[in-house]
Amino acid sequence: MLQQVGRYKLSSLLTPVLTATEVVLDVLIPYITASLIDKGLVAGDMESIYHYGALMLLMALLSLCFGILAGRCAAQASTGFAANLRSAMYRNIQTFSFADIDRFSTSGLVTRMTSDITSLQNAYGQILRVSVRAPFRLVLSIIMCLVIDARLSIIFIVAMIVLSMSLYNIISRVARLFKQVFKQYDSLNQSVQENVAAIRVVKAFVREKEETSKFSRAAEQLYKLYVRAESLMALNHPIMNMVVYGCIIALSWYGAHFIVEGSLTTGELTSLFTYVMSILQSLMMLSMIFVMLTQSAASAERVAEVIEAKASITNCDAPLTKVTDGSISFKHVRFDYTATIKPEPSRMLALFGNTTPQHKRSALFDISFDIESGATIGVIGGTGSGKSTLVSLICRLYDVSHGQVLVGGHDVREYDLTSLRTAVAVVLQQNMLFSGTILDNLRWGRADATEEECKAACHIAAADEFISQMPEGYNTRIEQGGTNLSGGQRQRLCIARALLKQPRILILDDSTSACDTATDAIIRQRLQTALPGTTKLIIAQRILSVRHCDRILVLENGQLTGFGNHEHLLQTNATYRDIYEIQNSDSGDFDTKGGES
Ligand SMILES: Nc1ncnc2c1ncn2[C@@H]1O[C@H](COP(=O)(O)OP(=O)(O)OP(=O)(O)O)[C@@H](O)[C@H]1O
Ligand SMILES: [Mg+2]
Repeated sequence: MLQQVGRYKLSSLLTPVLTATEVVLDVLIPYITASLIDKGLVAGDMESIYHYGALMLLMALLSLCFGILAGRCAAQASTGFAANLRSAMYRNIQTFSFADIDRFSTSGLVTRMTSDITSLQNAYGQILRVSVRAPFRLVLSIIMCLVIDARLSIIFIVAMIVLSMSLYNIISRVARLFKQVFKQYDSLNQSVQENVAAIRVVKAFVREKEETSKFSRAAEQLYKLYVRAESLMALNHPIMNMVVYGCIIALSWYGAHFIVEGSLTTGELTSLFTYVMSILQSLMMLSMIFVMLTQSAASAERVAEVIEAKASITNCDAPLTKVTDGSISFKHVRFDYTATIKPEPSRMLALFGNTTPQHKRSALFDISFDIESGATIGVIGGTGSGKSTLVSLICRLYDVSHGQVLVGGHDVREYDLTSLRTAVAVVLQQNMLFSGTILDNLRWGRADATEEECKAACHIAAADEFISQMPEGYNTRIEQGGTNLSGGQRQRLCIARALLKQPRILILDDSTSACDTATDAIIRQRLQTALPGTTKLIIAQRILSVRHCDRILVLENGQLTGFGNHEHLLQTNATYRDIYEIQNSDSGDFDTKGGES
């Protein structure tokens, strides 16, 4: 974590130095007060009063200046630290594979990026200042007390022992409570993120009441924990006051005796009073640091976990940068989804070899096939049969668990990831648009695409029609996630975006599912002539959408049960025939009625 301090090292180092200087000046002031009282006030010497008065003023001013500078440096260091942490985290998340994101969960990553880092930022700033100020002031004040009168210091020692014991007692309880508070925060955040992100679904299912009461329960729980923690913390003050007043009474009693004896001056007693306050305050501050450390330790661990996580999919040494053709081969491919049970393994547990149990779920079993470059291949199968999983292996969104996936004659793991993903364009089933204009979104496909090229791609994807009907055409703004477009419109834009990449392999994962049959047919027809030489994989639910393909892959429960053209499959594959008959009968999908000639 400390590596992330980066270029804010100087302010991080200056803060404690400046704070220490401030404290030294602060601590010396009561000592000068003693001289002012004894040599000035008691002796009635105006000269000394001016002299010591001016000295005190100067030191107070200097102390103020150092204090301000220290505050500035601390702010710079802590906000800079947080900024660096955020970018380091963001940078590492960009390298994550789908499996890594599954492991951390999106909402988990957002919480870590926001609340956890904010709490670290506050803790860092405070610790830079207070962790120096408190012990330094404590030690200096004790030394000053010893210098003034060692006999009276016994009072402080007794007071310190009493105070430390009671503080320790309170703090350890509070720390335990705060741990629970943070766990509760996690679930609260998860609930907020899930529900705000999916507010449309919540509304559609009229779940507002349930979701609100679920949230209220979590908030109530948090409130109770906080109240308990804060009431314990509130005990700090009365205890502190009791000890301080006890000290003052004892000091006054013994001090008065010593003054009468002549072994202590009035000024010295006055400064001792100030030091006693300073010592006890420093103890309080130290105890607060411990609370803060326990609070931020949990956040630090959560943030470090993301920053240090090694992406599970990376480039090999000397990767290939050119995908020569669009042929695809699967050789005995098996794929398991590994789901990590939350919460993520704690480092302490990991140290003892007690890692979180993982359970595997096979989504593909022993899949083998070859596709020649330039072919158009359909993929069909029931929901959950592994179609999306199969295509995600081609551009290495996931890595195979066993076997090999070859593209252009080479294992996909031999390619440079960027080159591979540039050559393989996927329109994901859960596609996404980003806030910006339509053109901006299309240029995700290729940054330097001209407006004409964008229009041509939109024509193939049958998107040009609705775009031209929009008031600002291609410059229409798309809201976050594309919410101001219909599902079918979004899908067509996503197809156009993928076409602009002019890939060697184009994968459409159920990409026209939200389009009407006529539009679907238009897109299919235009795709047949577009991008000749590009291998096209078309996943569909409707046989009508894939029957024209050169060959069709039939998947059932993660197994490949058929591979051939429409006629061949009708004769040899019972499942395919069943689906075809259901979809072609009157009771089937009305879209397929009458079919397409
Ligand atoms: N991220 C994931 N983590 C764990 N299991 C997953 C994940 N994604 C999919 N699965 C599981 O893998 C299996 C295959 O899913 P896949 O998404 O490939 O099906 P599909 O054929 O594309 O289905 P659909 O037609 O509904 O899109 C399913 O049983 C699913 O539960
Ligand atoms: Mg799917």
